[in-house]
Amino acid sequence: MGETETDALLAVGLSKSFKGFVAVDRLNIGVHRGECFGLLGVNGAGKTTTIQMLTGAEVINSGGSCILGYNLGVNRRKVATFSFTFSRIMVLRVSLQYLSQVGYCPQVDPLVNVMTAKETLLMYARLRGIPESVAEQHVDSLIDQLGLTEYKDKCCGTYSGGNKRKLSTAIAMVGEPPLLFLDEPTLGVDPVSRRKIWNALVDCTNNGQSIVLTSHSMEECEYLCHRVGIMVNGRFRCLGSPQYLKDKYCQGYTIKVKTRMSASAEKLEELKAFLVQTFGGSFLRDEYIGRLNFLVERRDVNWAQLFSTVREIKTRFEDVVEDSLVGETSLEDVFLSFTSKQVQQRP
Ligand SMILES: Nc1ncnc2c1ncn2[C@@H]1O[C@H](COP(=O)(O)OP(=O)(O)O)[C@@H](O)[C@H]1O
Ligand SMILES: [Mg+2]
Repeated sequence: MGETETDALLAVGLSKSFKGFVAVDRLNIGVHRGECFGLLGVNGAGKTTTIQMLTGAEVINSGGSCILGYNLGVNRRKVATFSFTFSRIMVLRVSLQYLSQVGYCPQVDPLVNVMTAKETLLMYARLRGIPESVAEQHVDSLIDQLGLTEYKDKCCGTYSGGNKRKLSTAIAMVGEPPLLFLDEPTLGVDPVSRRKIWNALVDCTNNGQSIVLTSHSMEECEYLCHRVGIMVNGRFRCLGSPQYLKDKYCQGYTIKVKTRMSASAEKLEELKAFLVQTFGGSFLRDEYIGRLNFLVERRDVNWAQLFSTVREIKTRFEDVVEDSLVGETSLEDVFLSFTSKQVQQRP
């Protein structure tokens, strides 16, 4: 217990099915105050459905959650005899109590095309009860933080996908809510603006706000998330800080080799066998369009050995190796090792 009592979000056994297909399967999440929690997983893993249940946008089938002290659960046994409409009303009633405390950037931009960024944000500022005297200043600062200054007086229907995401993220940030749900906020955002969004989100967590974030950028998760959970088929397969997950599941190094188009299949096999033999615990993790990706698991291998081996393959297999790269295993390696188990099609 302890910290869980003061957590911004605590969800237990959260589940959701669509016509018998289990999208979210008995998920447990706790998000501390001031923490950024990353929900990772391939498309279809259940991230959006989880966020929708936590924001009240989707009805919970079973399980429950306590968000900022508000109970947003549906006890299945109790409501089983009532109609679907009843559970929706329950969700709505509870939602109204706590929605003012929660910022939500949905996966699909919630924008009114004929409104400008400034008008949109001012509308949300008023809805959130921000006094008129400070609303404009607050909105201008958000516009500036997210790099929308140039577009603030243009109708958002004319925006590029990236600018729409920036505005949707800004909407979630209006009024500095204690808890933010951001569903792929930086999808399609250019690298410069993405950094701006990251800095704005780091300011949020420094300010004590909690964030639940989904993203397909491992770089983003490493930068922002204090903890991440990797979802596969609606369940967490692993959970912890990015460093903990890397240490626990992917100790070691990676060697990436780009091979020449002219390389013969025979020589290629020779190279693979050489690398596997050189490092006892290494194996070819994946191979695609002339790129080989080796994972070296042995902890007693050092950087000097890795570099000398890479130098050796460059001379010994000159007609095969075009380029090579040595690195530490990353969060992406952890992600790939878990998400290969995701079932893409409905059973
Ligand atoms: N409204 C819906 N009706 C039927 N199936 C749905 C609905 N929403 C989501 N799903 C299914 O639930 C699974 C999880 O979807 P989603 O939560 O959107 O995944 P993610 O956000 O991780 O990509 C997918 O297989 C998707 O097709
Ligand atoms: Mg999604």
